[in-house]
Amino acid sequence: MENFVINGGKELFGEVNISGAKNAAVAIIPAAILAGDKVRIENIPQISDVHLIIEILDSMGATVKLINNDTIEIDTTNLSYQSVPYEMTSHFRASYYLIGAMLGRFKKAEVAMPGGCNFGVRPIDLHVKGFKMLGADVDTVDGMVVARADKLVGSSIYMDNVSVGATINVMLAAVLARGLTIIENAAKEPHIVDLANFLNSMGADVRGAGTDVIKIRGVEKMHGCTYSIIPDQIEAGTYMVAAAACGGDVLVKNVIPKHLESISAKLIESGAEIIEYDDAVRVTRFKPLNKCNVKTMPHPGFPTDMQPQMCVLLSIAKGTSILSESVWDNRFQYVGQLLRMGANIQVDGKVAVIEGVDRLTGCEVKATDLRAGAALIIAGLVSDGVTTVENIQYIDRGYEDVVKKFTALGAEIKRVEVQDTASAVPSAG
Ligand code: EPZ
Repeated sequence: MENFVINGGKELFGEVNISGAKNAAVAIIPAAILAGDKVRIENIPQISDVHLIIEILDSMGATVKLINNDTIEIDTTNLSYQSVPYEMTSHFRASYYLIGAMLGRFKKAEVAMPGGCNFGVRPIDLHVKGFKMLGADVDTVDGMVVARADKLVGSSIYMDNVSVGATINVMLAAVLARGLTIIENAAKEPHIVDLANFLNSMGADVRGAGTDVIKIRGVEKMHGCTYSIIPDQIEAGTYMVAAAACGGDVLVKNVIPKHLESISAKLIESGAEIIEYDDAVRVTRFKPLNKCNVKTMPHPGFPTDMQPQMCVLLSIAKGTSILSESVWDNRFQYVGQLLRMGANIQVDGKVAVIEGVDRLTGCEVKATDLRAGAALIIAGLVSDGVTTVENIQYIDRGYEDVVKKFTALGAEIKRVEVQDTASAVPSAG
């Protein structure tokens, strides 16, 4: 088992390079199944969620070649139809994209119900509704989602809730369906647009991604391509919040500033200065932090995946801030860890009331999920004294080279091996 040990209290200075987007990669890699051909994917982040989905494709008969550190070539020509068991999906929420991709290519899919970060009920009813509207029969049998169709036929699908996963899964299933599929009330996250661009590079006809109506005209066949994944909005946002929380001057490079606008707006309100360049943002903060209210919303709102990191910043900002979560039912489990570090936060359901304190104090804390883990790193960096973050397997699922990147900014953080007490493997996604 490993922990992160952080000696906090230092401002951050320097540059950090952002990796490819995790939530785009975990959709784009299984989408390669639809090509039935060779696909080269660049800007792949080296994180454990990506390694897991590559292993699953490999076990299904795809040939996966590492071209260099961030480029892979996947050949799905000889990939065969397979049932995907729970051992493969239990640690990995996005494994449900295999349902859409296999249904699209083979007109059948059998995939174990996925695991994932636990922040409330995570239904897949909208995914199932979408597959059924395309003409598939979908059942859950012994924990497996079983979907079959003689043929898939385009349809008009209204999403009752804005869902990233359901929008992606329906896109995957619809690209090879007959006729026109219209997804209404679609999610608009940057990785939805990235997936649409990837599908189009493989010969699909997807229009309107990034708006709430996506139109997919089914094509007969798709083919290989070369594609580069967008930079990770949430990794970038995490370093921006870290810079603003610690103070200092950090250039966050290889980003799409447009994707970061909601985060930039809230950091400016809290007292940071942000300068946008073509593919970088510079975050400086030398003044005290101010309170600010934040509500998470689907894109282009403030991302729920930045909520825990922002909570840490607000916990040391002057005044009382209100942080409202409107995407997940239960995404404040990590708050208990911040209270141990001296934060003053009260949670009532989906709202946290944060009374800023002068300082946090280092202690031993446990990550409860991926973004909570990132938030605890930031908490350690702003704290007096030493913080030990446990359960860092969660953080490794979504942050490439986190120690190296923070160290380059002047932080004191190291990964240390510790005696394995209980080996619980967490789920994420
Ligand atoms: C994606 O999860 C992300 N994961 C999550 O990021 C992110 O928190 C979430 O989108 C919201 O932005 C990946 O992309 C792999 P949803 P997803 O379907 O697709 C409800 C991270 O830290 N809903 O958009 O599972 C659901 O309960 C991870 O990187 C239904 O009601 O989220 C929730 O309230 C964690 N029925 C809301 O929609 C459904 O069938 C949004 O969920 C599906 C979802």
